[in-house]
Amino acid sequence: MASRQTGSFSRRDFTHLFAVGGSAALFAHPAWAQSTRPSRLPAGGPGTGETFWKAVRTQFVMPPGLAVMNAANLCPASVPVIEALTRETKNVDQDPSQQNRARLTGAREDTRKQLATFLGVTPEEIVITRNTSESNNLVSNGLDLKPGDEVVIFGDNHPSNNQAWAEKAKRFGFSVAVVEQKNPHPGAEYYIDAFTRALTPRTKIMAFTHLTNTVGDLMPAKELCRVARDHGVLSVLDGAQTLGLLEVNLGDIQPDFYSGSAHKWPCGARECGVLYINVRAHDRMWPSSYSAYPGAVGVSRTMEAFGQRDEATMIAFGEALAFQTSIGRGAIERRSRGLAQQLMAGLARLDGFKVWTHPAPDRSAAVVSVLPSTLDIRKLLAALYEKDKIAVAGRNGADRGGLRISPHFYNTPAEIDRLVGALAGYARTGV
Ligand SMILES: Cc1ncc(COP(=O)(O)O)c(C=O)c1O
Repeated sequence: MASRQTGSFSRRDFTHLFAVGGSAALFAHPAWAQSTRPSRLPAGGPGTGETFWKAVRTQFVMPPGLAVMNAANLCPASVPVIEALTRETKNVDQDPSQQNRARLTGAREDTRKQLATFLGVTPEEIVITRNTSESNNLVSNGLDLKPGDEVVIFGDNHPSNNQAWAEKAKRFGFSVAVVEQKNPHPGAEYYIDAFTRALTPRTKIMAFTHLTNTVGDLMPAKELCRVARDHGVLSVLDGAQTLGLLEVNLGDIQPDFYSGSAHKWPCGARECGVLYINVRAHDRMWPSSYSAYPGAVGVSRTMEAFGQRDEATMIAFGEALAFQTSIGRGAIERRSRGLAQQLMAGLARLDGFKVWTHPAPDRSAAVVSVLPSTLDIRKLLAALYEKDKIAVAGRNGADRGGLRISPHFYNTPAEIDRLVGALAGYARTGV
């Protein structure tokens, strides 16, 4: 087996990691040197509050003064993930023999098992892809659809979902019906009803997003998957914004397909992702790629033949899942949601800011969109980054434009206060 600890990353290892800290000296990035590591992880875990989260923060190489709240786009990999990536990359480059590569394929299967455990499903239902875009396109490429068939999509899906369906509709002659988003989020019942009414006897697929990347609307995934199932329709759930943020359990939600990226909320390596294919949908899918080096079990044997892969990246994905598990997935979800709630409460107190995201916990999670009505978005983004050392994303255009702020467990309440304070200041003085 390749030298790796993924899958057995225990609380003891995590404590040890904090204790040694010195492995970081391998890396020359100045941010690494700046982080001060506590001698041990607080024994009480997340229950110890900010002490614990400060210790967790030292496992990221972002300088302490830089507040990055852009998890919906790209998260930093943690120290254990970067170390795994580096270690395994060196391993392959030191010995690129077939014998050594063969050992690493076992490690890829370990990551598949970890993904299955993380998502509450079986390894036989997991395909390791490059990212959510690829996962979504494997689905829209792989299902048989013909003239007369219909796909129901959600208006606020990502282009890797909606553009893909629209283009394939042109090619194969099926039609696409859209359930439009409504702002503010009108509640689960509204969408359950809207999707139910959109389904016809011709509908074969229902594709929607668990948490939207636009304004952070949380969709009633379990109920919508049930609606699809009751109508004999396959459900495609885009999980780019929930994998690694919420305690997603696909065994409970029961979609037919679920997609996600390692480099977003899981804080994994870049260019790695997952596609879950429910066992009941296996015989409905055609592979999009035929090549060597498929996965070893279940649907990965046919759907994961992408040729040579970067095993180091896949191993690092496993390490990211182990890192989150060792912290506690419930604690991570509560932390991120808590920071978003603090942010929305702060924004609600400011004049001239229109928050597009509904604060109710069953309608949002940790992606917050806000329009600062009197401020130029581009200038504001630049000022926040240059002067205040706060990085958030911008959303241009007339459709719910503004700032998109997505805090994760490595952010702090003080950073949220800093952001709200900076926005209040710019609202007073201009940018
Ligand atoms: C909902 C959703 N789906 C798909 C994607 C595409 O993710 P990736 O670029 O990792 O493929 C994104 C990216 O932001 C997203 O938010």
